[in-house]
Amino acid sequence: MRRCLSTPVNTSTNAQAAARFFGRKPAIAACSARSEPFAARPCRSENPAVTESVLQNRLQLETPHAGLQDSYRNLVREFVERGEPLVPFTLSFPNDDFEAFLSRLAACSRGEGLPPGFVPHTTFWLVRDGVEVVGVSNLRHELTDALRREGGNIGYGIRPSARGFGLAHVLLRHTLGRARELGLAEAWLSCAKGNKASAATILANGGEFVSEELIDDRGEIMQRYRIRLDGNTDAFGGVDRAPVSANRNAGPGKGR
Ligand SMILES: CC(C)(COP(=O)(O)OP(=O)(O)OC[C@H]1O[C@@H](n2cnc3c(N)ncnc32)[C@H](O)[C@@H]1OP(=O)(O)O)[C@@H](O)C(=O)NCCC(=O)NCCS
Repeated sequence: MRRCLSTPVNTSTNAQAAARFFGRKPAIAACSARSEPFAARPCRSENPAVTESVLQNRLQLETPHAGLQDSYRNLVREFVERGEPLVPFTLSFPNDDFEAFLSRLAACSRGEGLPPGFVPHTTFWLVRDGVEVVGVSNLRHELTDALRREGGNIGYGIRPSARGFGLAHVLLRHTLGRARELGLAEAWLSCAKGNKASAATILANGGEFVSEELIDDRGEIMQRYRIRLDGNTDAFGGVDRAPVSANRNAGPGKGR
């Protein structure tokens, strides 16, 4: 099942995201020289309506599916080749048998077969032009004490070669929309204090700093943020309204 950004979205919110998408140096460079996946993107527009339209047309939040298995595997390969932790954690699920991989994700979403301490969680792909998986998010349907301490409701990662274009903003915003559809009144997120890009992404999506704590086994300070979802229909509710009832998923007791 694939879902698209088929409904109107908040223009000001998307304009911000679109401005980031098209307004960064990498994006501007893409207009002239890059032959990477984003080389064909339109150049920056100062017209929010135009950038909004382009953004909606080019980026979709989708449920994982077999059609983009090669692109997904390539995304995971990029993480591995750079020696990066696999974030969100479902990137570490074996995918050699892609149908089995998809079945496992679907089961996690229904809360089936989860390890002790895990809650239902749903994995989403951010897809460019219907052809490339540029990011992955994981929505934990509820919080445990462990998740509240570290991990929160949502983890996300952007393909290394697609970073710096504002895509994390878009991925998080749409995933927050799904969280709201799930009935969550607020979403908790955590990130390492040194992860400036993630912190900026959370803050740009309405994150309020809650607390920070040194996590001994990670050897780093983790920060916790809260994003209110109730009463904020313009920001999150107009995006990707497809029902998620069939995706009642689970999440980790720890991790991102
Ligand atoms: C964190 C991550 C998702 C950001 O993705 P991205 O698409 O490059 O982020 P964006 O382009 O949307 O930029 C988000 C913000 O981070 C800032 N940023 C980007 N790279 C940065 C860097 N190296 N240092 C500081 N800030 C940076 C941007 O300026 C932007 O801030 P702004 O809104 O104030 O302009 C990506 O780096 C990633 O996948 N990292 C590995 C997994 C991970 O850490 N996930 C988060 C777990 S909490």
